[in-house]
Amino acid sequence: MKKIIAVYPGTFDPVTKGHVDIIKRASNIFDRLNIAITETNINKNILFSIEERVRIIREVVDELQLSNVSVNSFSGLLIDYMHKIGATVIVRGLRAVSDFEYELQMAYMNRNLDPNIETVSMMPYIEYSFLSSSIVKEIFFNGGDVTEFVPDAVLKYLLKKREDNVAGKENFKD
Ligand code: PNS
Repeated sequence: MKKIIAVYPGTFDPVTKGHVDIIKRASNIFDRLNIAITETNINKNILFSIEERVRIIREVVDELQLSNVSVNSFSGLLIDYMHKIGATVIVRGLRAVSDFEYELQMAYMNRNLDPNIETVSMMPYIEYSFLSSSIVKEIFFNGGDVTEFVPDAVLKYLLKKREDNVAGKENFKD
């Protein structure tokens, strides 16, 4: 039987427990799940470099021990990347009504680009329905505690980013 390769695309800046929840759910359904991190996102201010985002998600996925999950980066159109790896399903998390319009637009546009590719929207655990990478960064860089929202590996990288920023500012003063 044909194996279904699904792609879970995103900016993942950084990956949250909401994303991890979707990764677990999707890896249960599809034969293979490829987490595809976009190198650039013209609509977003990105904190972590593409190399850092790949490294962070690989650490998180290694801990989950899900043998059918892989992590890659891509640039350009998602559909082109999917053709390259033979994937036929796009997995997207759907948290609330506020996500719906954006997700619908993307799903229709991707269907327009290739009618054979299906988008599957998955709802995360309700506790994560308010969670986003942007809100995690906002809380963290304003001194809040994000421990319950991100995997341990992410917390480690966030703390390092803050240290580097402080060190950078100190050097600038000299
Ligand atoms: O986590 P995000 O930022 O909501 O993910 C958005 C992402 C990366 C899935 C989307 O921006 C994307 O697919 N980018 C690649 C370029 C592309 O194919 N755009 C057309 C989609 S309609």
